Amino acid sequence: MNLDLKNKRALVGGSTQGIGKAVAIELALLGANITLIARNEEALKKAKAEFNTDKGQQHSYIVADFSNPEEVKKNVTHYIQRQGTVNILVNNTGGPPAGPINIAQTEEFTTAFTNHLICNHILAQACLEGMKHSGYGRIINIISTSVKQPLHNLGVSNTIRAAVANWAKTWANEVGQFGITVNNVLPGATHTQRLQGIMETNATKSEKPLDEIKQTMLKEIPMKRFAEAAEIANAVAFLASPAAAYINGVNLPVDGGRTACL
Ligand SMILES: NC(=O)c1ccc[n+]([C@@H]2O[C@H](COP(=O)([O-])OP(=O)(O)OC[C@H]3O[C@@H](n4cnc5c(N)ncnc54)[C@H](OP(=O)(O)O)[C@@H]3O)[C@@H](O)[C@H]2O)c1
Repeated sequence: MNLDLKNKRALVGGSTQGIGKAVAIELALLGANITLIARNEEALKKAKAEFNTDKGQQHSYIVADFSNPEEVKKNVTHYIQRQGTVNILVNNTGGPPAGPINIAQTEEFTTAFTNHLICNHILAQACLEGMKHSGYGRIINIISTSVKQPLHNLGVSNTIRAAVANWAKTWANEVGQFGITVNNVLPGATHTQRLQGIMETNATKSEKPLDEIKQTMLKEIPMKRFAEAAEIANAVAFLASPAAAYINGVNLPVDGGRTACL
């Protein structure tokens, strides 16, 4: 099985911590040159220094805020003009704040739509010509299992994730003919700062101990544990590899079996 990503460049969003960083680590281990995107430049420098360089990989970063699509477009377009083709795009950023949908403000939906869908679209468009030209393209979107089954207390997130999944499927239909695949990875509950934050918010709002919140979540997972970020990253790395050339337009839950439907 060919998992070699040598001489491929991967642009990975939200990659200074959590799932995005784990993805960047795995792609670098397979030989890819990594370009990180996040807001905090110090964290970007620190993360970049940790990635594997045994195969001569060159890593870099772009500072950009996904809540500012114009900035994302400008910085990424300049970067691609300077550095050339991006072969692998991993669309990922921080998730929308938790909360029930009936009290969500309209601005929360537009903010989440901008951060998740509009910026994915800007990045995919910026990478498209290079992917076509090189005959190798992988667009992988980190979404959530809420694409298949809405999650409790994540009203805005549930709504926007469905839009992103359909955006991706539409792209998959259009660009497959150029050797570009577009797939969605749907993480279940994964050990990251976001998961910790969601559990703490739920504990505070429900006035229940944090451990009770955690145990309730674990009960729903057949594997009876949360995922490690590296386990999500392994799925992304496979989809990014030559071995996954014929997998296109899928939603892949990596959730220990938690999602109740197929
Ligand atoms: N963890 C889970 O259990 C879980 C489950 C299902 C789905 N997900 C989804 O998977 C994605 C990643 O989750 P995670 O747990 O890895 O998140 P995380 O630990 O909160 O990490 C988020 C990353 O995104 C960057 N980021 C946040 N806001 C940004 C912005 N406006 N512009 C640019 N970069 C930004 C952060 O860096 P800076 O702060 O420096 O910008 C950081 O590198 C999210 O969409 C999340 O909802 C997570």
